[in-house]
Amino acid sequence: MIPMAGLILIGMAGCGNNKNKTEPMQTSHKKDPHSYSEPSKAVITHLELSLSVNFDTRKLSGSATYDIQRSADAQELILDTRDLTISKVSLDDDTAGSAFATEIPDDILGTALIIKLKPETQKVTVFYETDPDAAALQWLQPSQTAGGKKPFLFTQSQAILCRTWIPVQDSPGIRFTYNAKIQVPEGYMAVMSAENPTQRSTDGVYTFTQKKAVPAYLMALAAGDFDYHQYDDRTGVYAEPATLKAAVYEFDETRSMLDAAEALYGPYDWGRYDILVLPPSFPFGGMENPCITFATPSIIAGDKSLNSLVAHELAHSWSGNLVTNRTWDDFWLNEGFTVYFERRIMESIYGKEYADMLGVLGYGDLMETLKDMKEAGQDDDTKLKLNLAGRDPDDGMNDVAYEKGWLFLCQLEREAGREAFDAFLKNWFRDFAFKGADTEEFIEYLQANLIEKSGKKFETDPKKWIYEPGLPEGYVAPTSTRLQKMEDMAAAYMSTGVDAVNLSGLSSHEVQYFLRSLPDDLSTAKMAALDQKFNFTERKNSEEAFLWLRLAVINNYADAYPALDRFLTTIGRRKFVKPLFEAMEKNPATRELAREIYTKARPGYHSVTYNTVDGILKWNP
Ligand code: BES
Ligand code: ZN
Repeated sequence: MIPMAGLILIGMAGCGNNKNKTEPMQTSHKKDPHSYSEPSKAVITHLELSLSVNFDTRKLSGSATYDIQRSADAQELILDTRDLTISKVSLDDDTAGSAFATEIPDDILGTALIIKLKPETQKVTVFYETDPDAAALQWLQPSQTAGGKKPFLFTQSQAILCRTWIPVQDSPGIRFTYNAKIQVPEGYMAVMSAENPTQRSTDGVYTFTQKKAVPAYLMALAAGDFDYHQYDDRTGVYAEPATLKAAVYEFDETRSMLDAAEALYGPYDWGRYDILVLPPSFPFGGMENPCITFATPSIIAGDKSLNSLVAHELAHSWSGNLVTNRTWDDFWLNEGFTVYFERRIMESIYGKEYADMLGVLGYGDLMETLKDMKEAGQDDDTKLKLNLAGRDPDDGMNDVAYEKGWLFLCQLEREAGREAFDAFLKNWFRDFAFKGADTEEFIEYLQANLIEKSGKKFETDPKKWIYEPGLPEGYVAPTSTRLQKMEDMAAAYMSTGVDAVNLSGLSSHEVQYFLRSLPDDLSTAKMAALDQKFNFTERKNSEEAFLWLRLAVINNYADAYPALDRFLTTIGRRKFVKPLFEAMEKNPATRELAREIYTKARPGYHSVTYNTVDGILKWNP
């Protein structure tokens, strides 16, 4: 889009600047600060998407047709777009172009596409193509895939990136059903957050149906060289042929997880639950796209030790996909509930001791985040209810929504008793199914359906947890006897030596906790002794490797730098990449190394990851 002063107006003559005509919102809910749409006037209810995927030009092109629901006097439909080139807009079956306007784009929000409606308009079609640098899309070279032969495309729409590949009302409070027709090159597979094919088509054309209404951030597409393995009539896994066997083994507990989840909080509403293993540049651990979780290959550890991520993404089928945060300020309603649900699934399958370890590891992350944020003067972002207006929502989303959210729900569970709490949660998912919910609605629901109903006086004050920074006094911290032993072992290592450390037969979580319990400033000699005995530098488990490499940077343990280089030029998962570059930037001795590695790694990262690292290194692309 060419930035111009004022409004860019294309299409029919004489429709003027609509901006000043905007009337006050008629809805009872606060406006989503991250969307230009005005759903009280005209809202989308169904999408027919038709796109073709061009790996040579790195563009998607085609059309999006919306059914709309509107008030009789609504004059316009407003969609969010960012970096899209719109060639035409048409109304109903009229193929002639219609009036539309856009404004100077905002770096974060993009630009409103304002479409003039006629009194009788029911449908709107936008013809468009995406930009080669569209932020949601990552176009991978064959060399960035496991197979090495074909390019790969995937999308990442959460939080507000859907608008970079579909013109849409990109607000989590707005839901629509969709059908799609996607053309990929012959021989490629394609999947979406919808009912999916299990076999490759002969002509590269795929059709998709999502009959349940979903918000835009759950729109997803992937195309490349991958196949399917079905576990049973509801679950399965997609992966590149080179990765499929390992993936099938790693995730074969998905079936039991789904059964466990349903036993806890009611029927799974989305038909199939599949997992797509992406190439390693995927910026997240997992993304809960309906019907098909997108996942990083870095959780394939060979021993299922990192599969709580599957429980997490599966749990989102209730918390997030069924009951959705109305705006990104309510993000903890998605993630805090999901972490709670995830750990309950893990407890059902692996027992309480295992779930306790996950809880203590998460709590450790939270304590670190709270400390860092306090030091950085970001106390406001340690509230559960966020205030992200005017900012990229991505900047305010951190461990707090996940782990403080989880801890809050654990306090409620303790006070209410598990049985009452489970009944309450199950009803919450039922009563708000396929709807948006905000924090205030939750507080009200909690008060009426758990606290008052219990007849007890609760010590836990929901408003303190939600609207105040940090952690309220008097909460009960999680504990794990198995992890406590690792703390003791780390202390023994520091005071005596490597003979005090015995890791044989321990789970990955115990090993991770051992590494985390070591002081940050270890000395190169202490690093070397551990490495000699346990070969940490060559660890294949990504969580363990990450923790070790971070220690290596802090302690100038140069023997691990070639491994650090390999790790960062292969894996684009932000959770690992960000702290490693932060540590390198903080240590004057590794600043140059950071730049050397980043020069090689950056072209392989998704925008979500490189935007974060650009900020850390003050990188000028
Ligand atoms: N929905 C999130 C990923 C996300 C959050 C994308 C915010 C964009 C903005 C997903 O469910 C998630 O939480 N992933 C975690 C894994 C989880 C086990 C904590 C991740 O990617 O690390
Ligand atoms: Zn999540």
